[in-house]
Amino acid sequence: MTVDIKKGLMGVTVDETGISKVMPEINSLTYRGYAAQDLCANCEFEEVAYLILNGNLPSKKELKKFEKEERKERTLSKSLINIIKQIPRKSHPMDVARTAVSVMGLEDKEVTDNSPKANLRKAMRIFSKTPTALAAFYRLRKGKKIIAPKKKFTFAENFFYMCFGKVPNKEIVKAFDVSLILYAEHSFNVSTFTARTITSSLSDIHGAITGAIASLKGPLHGGANEEVMHMMKKIKKPENADKWINNALNKKAVVMGFGHRVYKSGDSRVPTMREYFGKVAKIKKDKTYEKIYDIVEKVMIKRKNIHPNVDYPTGPTYHLMGFDTDFFTPIFVISRITGWSAHVMEQHSTNKLIRPLAAYNGNKYRKVKVLKKR
Ligand code: SDX
Repeated sequence: MTVDIKKGLMGVTVDETGISKVMPEINSLTYRGYAAQDLCANCEFEEVAYLILNGNLPSKKELKKFEKEERKERTLSKSLINIIKQIPRKSHPMDVARTAVSVMGLEDKEVTDNSPKANLRKAMRIFSKTPTALAAFYRLRKGKKIIAPKKKFTFAENFFYMCFGKVPNKEIVKAFDVSLILYAEHSFNVSTFTARTITSSLSDIHGAITGAIASLKGPLHGGANEEVMHMMKKIKKPENADKWINNALNKKAVVMGFGHRVYKSGDSRVPTMREYFGKVAKIKKDKTYEKIYDIVEKVMIKRKNIHPNVDYPTGPTYHLMGFDTDFFTPIFVISRITGWSAHVMEQHSTNKLIRPLAAYNGNKYRKVKVLKKR
């Protein structure tokens, strides 16, 4: 009897969600009904984080309370700082993020409480502290002193401050804020589904987010934004781009930053991120990567009809902002913690253990032969 296997769960709807949807009628990703690009134009990341976690955009009063809580929780325990100090400097920052969230779980007094209120409090602590943990490693790796978070800064400003010791001009901060809004949530992508699968056994949110971070690290998922930058650095100059990408395609290479399981005629987040990439390139007076970007995109669409995904513009944008390449996916993490947390809470609210079937293709039944006869 042949079984219809959907490898990679391609095209399979496994559950419902009210958190986000790519609405074909407006060809846009929407969070709780709001188009992501409208949120980028009209909100700061904190408002969107509140929306994803709580279901509605905050009033002024609600936002003030949310920001106060987020800023209060930014500091790390002494033991977590000491653990980060012992992490080998050559470690990948995604593994540092995963480790830090795990340690937060060890320290969180509500770790076994899966009630909605406790999960929201735990989500806020993970959301607030993970940037601090990553920035601490960023500094230590460069032989510099850790910079403590500052409550006067927004979420985006504070990350720049903890990494670089200063906040860049407001256009750069806005571009970073926009990238955080665009990265925040994307329905049942592989890292989110990992978080939901872990949650479905009634495990805790720290474990779910630790697993999600491990999944996001992969180059087929969040890790692609780093690979985009490696590709651009290999291309080096715009005049090399056309030849380089055609060679890659002739060798049947998978080109990072392109293609998507859901979007087949272009990721709805790309136009907005591409616009801010251009703004940052203009401010930094460096158009090299923009020229490479456009040439590679043209060839990919012409030869394969494969369009960029959100990781394609974010890579060079983060490079121009001064971040080390292996910190690009960790930036994806500090934003997507909001989406992951919302899905963990939603999974709890309508939980069913996730346990798919497999079609067996192994040995037929056979009797055991004792060792002396084998
Ligand atoms: C993210 O799911 C989400 O929502 C994820 C995300 C989010 O916000 O959470 O949007 C974030 O992960 C974006 C994707 C980042 N990954 C990359 O940029 C890696 C490169 N992309 C490919 O690996 C691929 O496009 C996937 C994995 C993203 C999606 O591929 P699918 O849906 O599994 O389809 P496929 O790999 O089977 O490709 C179909 C065809 C194949 O050709 P054939 O074998 O049929 O001839 O298209 C080709 C593929 O070879 N193809 C590519 C390609 N992507 C697809 N060929 C070259 N380069 C590519 N990037």
